[in-house]
Amino acid sequence: MKIFLDTADLSEIGQAVSWGILDGVTTNPSLMAKAGASDFKVHLRKICDVVQGPVSGEVVSVEPDGMLKQAHELAAISPHMVIKVPMTVAGLQVCKKLNTENIPVNMTLVFSPAQALLAAKAGATYVSPFIGRLDDISHFGMDVVRDIVAIFDRYGFETNCLAASLRHPLHVVEAALAGAHVATLPWNVLEKLVHHPLTDVGIDRFLQDWKKIRPEGW
Ligand code: E4P
Repeated sequence: MKIFLDTADLSEIGQAVSWGILDGVTTNPSLMAKAGASDFKVHLRKICDVVQGPVSGEVVSVEPDGMLKQAHELAAISPHMVIKVPMTVAGLQVCKKLNTENIPVNMTLVFSPAQALLAAKAGATYVSPFIGRLDDISHFGMDVVRDIVAIFDRYGFETNCLAASLRHPLHVVEAALAGAHVATLPWNVLEKLVHHPLTDVGIDRFLQDWKKIRPEGW
């Protein structure tokens, strides 16, 4: 399972890159605003320069012509760019068109397997089911990931299921068990994945014992 960071914060992205585990980045208009990206194109270019992998940037028009124009502008920023398009009829139309131009699409705001099936048929490279937002309204978000993966496997779709809106480490583990091709996580969740109290206790104990036999220079 690939790990993307769900942020537009350059410092968080830089740290995750330095860990050697980052495969890509997803942004959205809210994350860009949170990062204070006043010149969003310059900001996305900076992200693409740091991340040697796919970087999703989102269109904000809701009608096909506007979406397509914005998609072309975003795609021109870097070969790393993936165009995030909302799951609407206009979004499907734009996805199909971008697919014929070999511009990768991340179909976003997906909340059901039926929507994911349509996105795959329109040639999306990624579909992003929002797990946390489904959990928020008392649905089992991860069931949607399981169903999407089963459908894509069953029919041989090349579209990747990108588990999004993940809120805690268990979401990441569940996404991996469900067969998600990618999980995109906020920085606080990525940080939590690293730590285990028994790891800290184990290191401390080893270091204490090592002191008893430590040779010169170690
Ligand atoms: C994914 O691409 C979205 O940017 C993101 O995961 C949404 O997460 P949220 O529901 O925590 O805002």
